Amino acid sequence: MRESVNSRFISRIQILLSPVVFCYNSQSTLGLSRLNPPVTVQRDINRKRHLMAYWIFAGLGFCLLAVIIYDLLQTKHAILRNFPVIGHFRYLLESVGPELRQYIVTDNNEERPFSRDQRRWVYASSKHANNYFGFGTDNDLERPSNHLIVKQAMFPLPIYYSGDPGFDSKFSLPCAKVLGGKRGRRLAFRPTSVVNVSAMSFGSLSAPAIEALNRGAKIAGCLHNTGEGGVSPYHGHGGELIWQLGTGYYGCRDLQGNFDLPQFLDTVAAHPIRAIEIKLSQGAKPGLGGMLPAAKITREISEIRGIPMGVDCASPNSHRAFHDVDSMLDFVELLADKTGLPVGIKSAVGEIAFWRTLAEAMSNTDRGVDFITVDGGEGGTGAAPLSFSDHVSLPFKIGMSRVYRAFAEAGLNQDVVFIGSGKLGLPESALFAFALGCDLVNVAREPMLSIGCIQAQRCHTGHCPTGIATQNRWLMRGLDPTSKAARMANYIVTLRKELTHLSRACGVCHPTMLTCDHFEILDGNVGATSMHELFGYEPNWGLPNPEDAETITRLVLGDVLTGT
Ligand SMILES: Cc1cc2nc3c(=O)[nH]c(=O)nc-3n(C[C@H](O)[C@H](O)[C@H](O)COP(=O)(O)O)c2cc1C
Ligand code: SF4
Repeated sequence: MRESVNSRFISRIQILLSPVVFCYNSQSTLGLSRLNPPVTVQRDINRKRHLMAYWIFAGLGFCLLAVIIYDLLQTKHAILRNFPVIGHFRYLLESVGPELRQYIVTDNNEERPFSRDQRRWVYASSKHANNYFGFGTDNDLERPSNHLIVKQAMFPLPIYYSGDPGFDSKFSLPCAKVLGGKRGRRLAFRPTSVVNVSAMSFGSLSAPAIEALNRGAKIAGCLHNTGEGGVSPYHGHGGELIWQLGTGYYGCRDLQGNFDLPQFLDTVAAHPIRAIEIKLSQGAKPGLGGMLPAAKITREISEIRGIPMGVDCASPNSHRAFHDVDSMLDFVELLADKTGLPVGIKSAVGEIAFWRTLAEAMSNTDRGVDFITVDGGEGGTGAAPLSFSDHVSLPFKIGMSRVYRAFAEAGLNQDVVFIGSGKLGLPESALFAFALGCDLVNVAREPMLSIGCIQAQRCHTGHCPTGIATQNRWLMRGLDPTSKAARMANYIVTLRKELTHLSRACGVCHPTMLTCDHFEILDGNVGATSMHELFGYEPNWGLPNPEDAETITRLVLGDVLTGT
């Protein structure tokens, strides 16, 4: 067996070298050797052959060197900068991938977490390339279960293209609610984009990746969540921030790891922070806390996070600043009062009692969160145990609908801005999140794809080949933050564009105006279940209140209605 593998290998090498061998031998095949020349002539021929071989190899070497230099200096492709020459194989394989897969490997919808079709859509959108798919769907619509169907209107709203009056090349889609408005926060504001960049820390992601996301957020006009790793210099490229406080209170902690209010206020004053998010948990590893190994703690990370170098940095799985709903609301009000900023929480959904208690406490007292980010169990992470990623916490649709129900039954669903995350960076899944009551969606891995992530799933090793999830200097060097920022912005704008087009196809002008009536889920048995049946939503659940609906209609259609 080994022998046959070896001989196959040798024969492949022979095939690869055959052009060189051909040139080298060409003189003999052309007849020179057949004349059986005298010894001096033979020596001359040999010398010429050697010279020719020398030039061929020198030429190949020169070409190789030129490719290496080009790869190292170009800034468009991180893979090529990090892996000169070898990186080209990725593009070669990618180009013949569909044909290979059709016969050998997987189909367009099999790969996880993001299928090839989904990734292709993100890659093409981020490059402003053709993101259409030809020939029709390759899904078998009737057989697989859990397939989402959007039900279009028979009289859709018009869609505007470049050159039409009312066309907006940024596809602005502001939030239907004012963040912090209901609780009268001093710095309440209306987020200008319904799609924003989800929490991912500096430390988990590299400096150029954070910079690309932040610059991209500025171009696309969306918010950038810092993640729990603190605010770094790479967050200072114009994108407005939501500062996330995790259990480690990185950037605002004392030496024992307790929350430090003066440090917190200093950081808020020094950065363009628009809101504070208190992280209770995240879908991929709820109830676990985090661990940053000593090896990944650079001097810069140690300074930004306020942690010592040389020892593992563990963030606990619960907060020290509060221990139940009541003390959590006191903490929320403290932060909001001292800063004037809207303050919210982020969590994955497990036991439902917490949410009911929170809704009850908000009904009975004058304290409350301004926003709730619900992260689905299918969400991403830099690193987590498999059992937590696969089995702890509910998937987004179930978790979100339960939380929304708890607040709707308490009459508070209009008082809170709901944010969803968990593979919502694709048009149809984001659209459905809005129907479930989300006012905004956060996206994490999809923007990573837009800045070059190839879904190698090695984020936990520190050896990310595209320089995104690593602190390795060589690998990071490959990622050019400026060009990747433009790609990230293109992706966000394209997502907003498709959300706009889908909403209009359903006869409404803004995705928050979709309800469960606009969707069905195929059951895999030539039947379908309505979303009302599945989630038990009341008729108005998920919709903005009439006042917000009127405002958002005016904001979105204003230009068209007034003819400006
Ligand atoms: C590399 C990486 C780092 C993350 N870091 C954080 C974090 O610091 N805080 C947090 O709340 N969520 C974190 N998340 C989770 C995301 O913010 C998001 O909730 C989740 O990935 C779902 O969104 P997605 O499906 O669009 O990726 C991280 C995710 C990834 C992939
Ligand atoms: S390790 Fe792979 S999945 Fe993780 S960011 Fe890098 S390319 Fe993407």
